[in-house]
Amino acid sequence: MTTSSIQHIAVVGAGLMGHGIALELAAYGYDITLHDRDQSQLERARGGITEGLARLVDIGRITAKEAAGAPARIAMGTDLRSAVAGADLVIEAVSENIEVKRTVFRDIDAWAPRHAIFASNTSTFMPSLLAAATTRPERVLVAHYFNPPYLLPLVELVRGDLTNDETVATMRALYEGIGKSPAVVQREAPGFVGNRLQMALLREALAIVDAGIASPRDVDTIIKTSFGRRLAVAGVFEVFEAAGWDLTLAVADQLFPVIERSTEPPLSLREKVARGELGLKTGKGFYDWTPEEAAALRGRIGNALAAIARLSDA
Ligand SMILES: NC(=O)c1ccc[n+]([C@@H]2O[C@H](COP(=O)([O-])OP(=O)(O)OC[C@H]3O[C@@H](n4cnc5c(N)ncnc54)[C@H](O)[C@@H]3O)[C@@H](O)[C@H]2O)c1
Repeated sequence: MTTSSIQHIAVVGAGLMGHGIALELAAYGYDITLHDRDQSQLERARGGITEGLARLVDIGRITAKEAAGAPARIAMGTDLRSAVAGADLVIEAVSENIEVKRTVFRDIDAWAPRHAIFASNTSTFMPSLLAAATTRPERVLVAHYFNPPYLLPLVELVRGDLTNDETVATMRALYEGIGKSPAVVQREAPGFVGNRLQMALLREALAIVDAGIASPRDVDTIIKTSFGRRLAVAGVFEVFEAAGWDLTLAVADQLFPVIERSTEPPLSLREKVARGELGLKTGKGFYDWTPEEAAALRGRIGNALAAIARLSDA
């Protein structure tokens, strides 16, 4: 199957990720069916699609005319069977629950055309687990986006044990064709690559706060005003190539023995979650959030990502 043979894409799950994935593909001319079992989620998705398309115009990725044409290419519905019946590619973005996902994969395997590729946006589940619910494991893989999916270029394409080269090549070409940055994860591993790296940083940040070395606010300042800024334009290997591996080894000799190595999240985090301090959505996490402050943070992240997208050729 070639990229040009992908015309019709079904996106299953119209939440935060699903609607964002759908709007970008529609902006580039693909015919989309966006499915959710919950009609109210589809209605909410409409507003998100309009906002996301406006943002893509704002950063210069698409023209106002392309944005205006996109919503008409997104058909919405609550019937999964009809949503996937004509699909060349199905992208699954339902809730992160293995049983729910495996049921969806079993159903789409029965109802989608034999040639269709199935991609899951799961954050954690191995593609082989999902492929095993189908009769086409060679055409199943993970296509893991980061949020917001239409502003962050990366899609991790994670191969399962049986995913074939043609499937990976087709997905890579599809994403390159719409200006994204697909990266192939050759061997499936929990968390793939991006989330393993993020969690390594979070484990150390939590340990620093628990040990009283610095406050959450100061940890965030340290990240945002130093290496975080650099990481937006140079990857970890590029950064240390520039620093020199001799210096890097000397620092690693000192720090690897003392940085956090625990195999469980800290008790302090479990207690915070048990208290309902979940972050923006409950108005309190490590910081206190009024609704205005929460909206301001979301706006700041969105605006900065849009500005980086305008500048970046990464
Ligand atoms: N939120 C993120 O930052 C992020 C980033 C990368 C990947 N992901 C992954 O993307 C997937 C979706 O996450 P989200 O944040 O969009 O969640 P969400 O809760 O916003 O959306 C999930 C949607 O799936 C729908 N749904 C649930 N079961 C369904 C079913 N059986 N059939 C049809 N629709 C069903 C729900 O109604 C809901 O609209 C998850 O696997 C998640 O791990 C999320």
